[in-house]
Amino acid sequence: MISPSSIDQIFETARVEEVIGDFVQLKKAGSNFKGLSPFSDERSPSFMVSPVKQIWKDFSTGKGGTAVSFLMEHEHFTYPEALRYLAKKYNIEIEETVQSDEQKEKANEKESLYLVSEFASTYFQNVMHKTDQGKAIGLGYFKERGFTEETIKKFDLGYSLNEWQAFTDEALKQGYNIDYLAKTGLTIVKEDKRFDRFKGRVMFPIKSMSGRVLGFGGRILIADKKAAKYVNSPESEIYYKSKVLYGIHLAKQSIAKEDNCYLVEGYTDVIQFHQTGIHNVVSSSGTALTSEQIRLINRLTKNITVLFDGDAAGMRASLRGIDLILEQGMNVRVCTFPEGEDPDSFAKQNTLEELATYLNENAKDFIQFKASVLFEESKNDPIKKADTVRDIVQSISKIPDRIKTEIYIQECARIMDISEEVLFSTLAQMTKKEGQEESKKAKTEQKAFEVIRHEEPPEEIDVQYLLERKIIELLLLYGDKTEDFEDLVLKENEKGELGLEPVIQQARVFEKIFLDLQDDEMEFGNSHFKTLYYTIIDRLNQDADFDLKTFVNSVDQNMAREITTILMEDERYSLDNWKRMNIFPKEKDTTIAQLVSETILSLRCFLIDQKVKGFQQETLQNKIDTNRNILEEVKDYSGLKMLLSRKLSRVL
Ligand code: CTP
Ligand code: MN
Repeated sequence: MISPSSIDQIFETARVEEVIGDFVQLKKAGSNFKGLSPFSDERSPSFMVSPVKQIWKDFSTGKGGTAVSFLMEHEHFTYPEALRYLAKKYNIEIEETVQSDEQKEKANEKESLYLVSEFASTYFQNVMHKTDQGKAIGLGYFKERGFTEETIKKFDLGYSLNEWQAFTDEALKQGYNIDYLAKTGLTIVKEDKRFDRFKGRVMFPIKSMSGRVLGFGGRILIADKKAAKYVNSPESEIYYKSKVLYGIHLAKQSIAKEDNCYLVEGYTDVIQFHQTGIHNVVSSSGTALTSEQIRLINRLTKNITVLFDGDAAGMRASLRGIDLILEQGMNVRVCTFPEGEDPDSFAKQNTLEELATYLNENAKDFIQFKASVLFEESKNDPIKKADTVRDIVQSISKIPDRIKTEIYIQECARIMDISEEVLFSTLAQMTKKEGQEESKKAKTEQKAFEVIRHEEPPEEIDVQYLLERKIIELLLLYGDKTEDFEDLVLKENEKGELGLEPVIQQARVFEKIFLDLQDDEMEFGNSHFKTLYYTIIDRLNQDADFDLKTFVNSVDQNMAREITTILMEDERYSLDNWKRMNIFPKEKDTTIAQLVSETILSLRCFLIDQKVKGFQQETLQNKIDTNRNILEEVKDYSGLKMLLSRKLSRVL
């Protein structure tokens, strides 16, 4: 268990923008940072991080919270995992409270899988560097491939002894549980027998964006027709093939910086590129690219360059998969290597300058490339040509940008020697069909979004909604502060006349808000705000030192979402709206006390207006001769309104 003081220290040290910056490319936008949501396929950024408030908000999914909750959402960490991750990132030594054996056993299963994988990675490295067999066979192999010591260390490459259960025995001896060895696939358990999955292979650890070991690829060293060249970890609770890209943790910074990502097929392509000096490279590890993998890249850059081995058959198969990249609005280029070469062998034989030049000169726009490849194949075969046209237009139809679409149609018409009209009409047919399917989908999905509906800004300006939200915001930001509030109180002067006089009263912000609203017997119109309001008031009442981050962390996920929405959404409303309505014109240099008073008074004025309007409606509709009671009430309320307005004009 992590001690409370360590938890405090972690919370104090962690900066949300730094933590998220490791996963999402953030750009400064005013006092906030903006980026593409890591939780959806969006094309324009709606993911916001506030360094001032130390929270984040993803408007595309409604998720939001603190640095810790980001790690829990994004990396699927548990709470303690997220804390440990942050402690490691910020070099904070974690103080553990004593753990019983029982507690140890209960320690999260996922965490155990990570631990066992981490152990295995260290073990395979040690075996390669410290045993005779490892040095002679494993290290020897990598050296022969031309990998330097530095490269081998950088990728944590290792070797698994050519023995049936050397690894498993050592892991068990170190106290690792056989269940976890089996679940990560490191050990194959068959009845009472145990085998090392990676027996006699060189080892490539596969890591997450943040550098945690998720699984392994193991390459065989002897030419054996019956055995697979590469064996990979099976999927487990920590390793989803479709969600990882080999090398991403070493490439992320460079991808963002270069604003381009090279995509290669194999482990060794990635490694050789690094050694040559190109770092913005990842591999899909031989499998077809998935949209989740593309999303990982899309967060870092819009540009992807797919590098194909120099064999034509493999390339053609991959062309189709690239439509997935287009769908996410990315710019795709492709680059092929000379016959018989792959990125690994080509990088090995060339200097950084030569490699960079080659990539620059040979990377072609994907659509143009596909059109010319397919055209070459089909130019003498009319039936095949029709298929080709459809195939190409299919790719073009995936591009979300209309202008780009048109340019491509023109280009392809030229390359394939066919009229633009034919291409445009084929495109129109395709998009129409897709549109029909989409709208069907949208209808069935609507339910799922209903929950977060209220978070969307209302179409018309709903003053009450905005003011209620402002009150919640003020409570969250300043609730525990003590301020000097000015109030107008009825007082008798020396002559015995009644008049309004300003009085300064010290109060905590939340008490002021609570008491003032209670005075009017005012209830929140929005039920979400109402629940939130009472939760916050309750907490402020109990905790002498209220801390926003701790609070957000302590409430359930839905409420955390609502809170972050409120805290971040005000940035989305243009200030113009507020100005037009004459609310908060001086927001910049007003004090907290003024802001609070303004908001409460504005809301009270608004509610009274509503009441008066209601009465007027009634009298009009009833047409009965003027109902005395209502008139009286209107008079009362109008008086109150005038009083409030005077107060308000003093604050403003
Ligand atoms: N691969 C795999 N299983 C196989 C073959 C390939 O998982 N049986 C994956 C590996 O990630 C490999 C990639 O597909 O890196 C590309 O395969 P290949 O080109 O055959 O391997 P290389 O990386 O070129 O490996 P090497 O140069 O060591 O032969
Ligand atoms: Mn190769």
